[in-house]
Amino acid sequence: MTVTQYLADWRPYPFQIAETRLEFDLAPRATRVRSQIDFRRKHAGDLVLDGAGLKTLALAIDGRPLDPQRAEAGRLVIPAAELPDAFTFSAEVEIDPEANTALEGLYLSGGMFCTQCEAEGFRHITWYPDRPDVMAPFRVTVRSDKPVLLSNGNPVSSAPGQAVWHDPWPKPAYLFALVAGDLVAISDSFTTMAGRAVALNVWVRPGDQDRAGYAMESLIRSMKWDEEAYGREYDLDVFNIVAVDDFNMGAMENKGLNIFNSKLVLASAETATDGDYERIEGVIGHEYFHNWTGNRITCRDWFQLCLKEGLTVFRDQQFTSDMRSAAVKRIHDVQTLRARQFREDAGPLAHPPRPDNYQEINNFYTATVYEKGAEVIGMLKRLVGDDGYRRALDLYFDRHDGQACTIEDWIKVFEDATGRDLTQFKRWYTDAGTPRLTLAENWRDGRLTLTFRQETAPTPGQPEKPPRVIPIALGLIGPNGDEVLPTTVLEMTEAEQSFRFDGLGARPVVSLLRGFSAPVTVAREIAADEQALLLAHDTDAYARWQAGHDLALDGLIARATGAEGGAAFSRAIGGLLDDAETGPAFAALCLALPGEEEIATTIAARGGIPDPDAIHARREALARDIARAHEPALARLYEVMQTPGPYRPDAEGAARRSLRLACLGLLSRLDDGTRAEALFGAASNMTERQGALECLIAAGRDEAALAGFAREFSGNRLVMDKWFMVQALRAAPERAVARARELAGRPDFDWMNPNRFRALIGGLTANHAAFHAADGSGYAFTVDWLMRLDPVNPQTTARMCSAFETWTRYDAGRQARARAALGRLAAMKGLSRNSAEMVTRILA
Ligand code: ARG
Ligand code: ZN
Repeated sequence: MTVTQYLADWRPYPFQIAETRLEFDLAPRATRVRSQIDFRRKHAGDLVLDGAGLKTLALAIDGRPLDPQRAEAGRLVIPAAELPDAFTFSAEVEIDPEANTALEGLYLSGGMFCTQCEAEGFRHITWYPDRPDVMAPFRVTVRSDKPVLLSNGNPVSSAPGQAVWHDPWPKPAYLFALVAGDLVAISDSFTTMAGRAVALNVWVRPGDQDRAGYAMESLIRSMKWDEEAYGREYDLDVFNIVAVDDFNMGAMENKGLNIFNSKLVLASAETATDGDYERIEGVIGHEYFHNWTGNRITCRDWFQLCLKEGLTVFRDQQFTSDMRSAAVKRIHDVQTLRARQFREDAGPLAHPPRPDNYQEINNFYTATVYEKGAEVIGMLKRLVGDDGYRRALDLYFDRHDGQACTIEDWIKVFEDATGRDLTQFKRWYTDAGTPRLTLAENWRDGRLTLTFRQETAPTPGQPEKPPRVIPIALGLIGPNGDEVLPTTVLEMTEAEQSFRFDGLGARPVVSLLRGFSAPVTVAREIAADEQALLLAHDTDAYARWQAGHDLALDGLIARATGAEGGAAFSRAIGGLLDDAETGPAFAALCLALPGEEEIATTIAARGGIPDPDAIHARREALARDIARAHEPALARLYEVMQTPGPYRPDAEGAARRSLRLACLGLLSRLDDGTRAEALFGAASNMTERQGALECLIAAGRDEAALAGFAREFSGNRLVMDKWFMVQALRAAPERAVARARELAGRPDFDWMNPNRFRALIGGLTANHAAFHAADGSGYAFTVDWLMRLDPVNPQTTARMCSAFETWTRYDAGRQARARAALGRLAAMKGLSRNSAEMVTRILA
């Protein structure tokens, strides 16, 4: 039976907790957990506790035993009449970490005990009010023969076999963490702005220490940045990070004890790419920033998830822009948002950043909650200005420290700090769907009139879409390339609205949506030479890139639907390559053709039916045309962009390598992988090795390289994940499903490990033409594996169901095959609540 939770049903918890005390006796098959919780009544009501899969041995109120049989499945209710106003609830339960393959609650990863409690994992550990608005200080005793025993907060005592931890900051159960294992740390320290010393440790398996340094450096940069940018200081004596190999998501911000997927901690030149380094820095920052935005101020209920996630993503994006290149970061973020969130918003899984109902909250850790949640904050900041934003954030921290809050609280601090009425703006939080912005231009006697229309298509459960506040940042570029109007922000609030610009000498070209000032799609008439003008002269890096990208996209769509296309883009590339050396990362971004998925999305948005095979073929053809047209320049840049000397994972080196690999990708279409083979053999860093390997796979010249790679890295799980992933992702579509099937049969396809599963199965679903193979083999293969994983790990299975969220945009044959595959999954006996919710929504 499925139960839907509604935002409207939230009620305050009747009790507050003065302290939570936990004692763990760890054993793989039978861990004992004793708890004592000091409750104090705040409102009328029964005591309701959550528990899942617990063997309840004893229960008591103020030491008076209760019958353990009173616990029903999932809930323990003690009527108000049996309870004094203040009392201690105690319980003793037994749990089985080794059987916990779902990786929720307390589990084992490579012999190490670790936890993941967000969102509702703590109920798998003991009876508790497992909801984010119930906060308490924790005192935790861990007993185990493992040498390193960690929990939240500050260490109280530590002796062989036992450690005691105390976390003075009241927190909800989802921020609880415990780790016990044979671990080693690299250690450092940080002195806060108030002069307090904080001990820092990054804990890894013995042997991995030499790959943990970058995570530590990133942590120190994060701590410094949050002081400087937000005035936020760390608040405990220690900060621990632990890397674990089996983890459903990226990382977790448990108070004082962040737990990370090892792929977001471990890095060396030989094993990690520039992209990995950038992600490590960003996610270390993200989890650290949660200490204030998430932990000190948390969410009242899980509907408010974007309160902490949208804000913390926004903060980690700011951090990365400050550490690296703001322009490049913005373009990357827009690319991710389009690829993941626009896609989600356009399909059956569309939901608002703050949903108002769910069956399984783990299905709502989405691009909409995270990335669109961050975009909404970016819009707010643009509307109220940098000073207004700072005042609002200061007020937020002042007013709400120690509380569990809502989006209404968040909006109120902006209203109070700036005097603005944000009633209409709030729709961005409550309404799903991506507005489509249409621009019509009128030019007369030196006056340019811009008329905008906004429209949002209906989304599941939300047929009506009233207009939203859209900040439209724009500039005007004269025909000679000079900027005649610097960035100006128009505030659109109506369904249709006009803005006038007077006193212009000649008709300018509108540089629209600078900095991607709102998460909307844009429809406008613009000639190819005007786009080329923007690409050459716009002062806004995002708008420049977008102009080139649109040129390429229009060309590709023309081709994919049978016409000629791409010539204007190819011409524009010429100018770009001439000064590529001054901005290699930007040039690389412009050289990258829109992906097949994006082409399909755009065709569908324009009312067409995308043909995955044609899209693939035409994109390949355009890449070859561009390579042929610019071969000398590409070949020269490929040589010039070498990065001599030892590898450094900084933005400058990464920029040069990205351009080098962009050139290699194009050149490989002409030289059949000769350069790629040479680079694969010669490169000493993983960025270039993986880049070269991907070119070799696409060129079908990969046998020796893959074998060599596997020999060299068979002992390194993270690198072998790449080996699985690139083969499924980059194999030519007609070979990819067979290749994936073959790889899935290997003994080292350790499919219960989420990273490995995602590498291979996720790699295939991201290979657009392979996943959408006309014979349905991509769909069938994927569903076979989802059915196998679901009983073992529902969370990861359910998340991967979203590969199917676009199924209705394809032709009838593909639709029938996708529906059949999804139907098999839906009909599976014992299908998890997680996956059931996803399949039902996707098929609805
Ligand atoms: N709060 C984590 C973050 O930093 C995400 C953890 C979510 N985990 C889960 N199983 N839902 O974004
Ligand atoms: Zn987060």
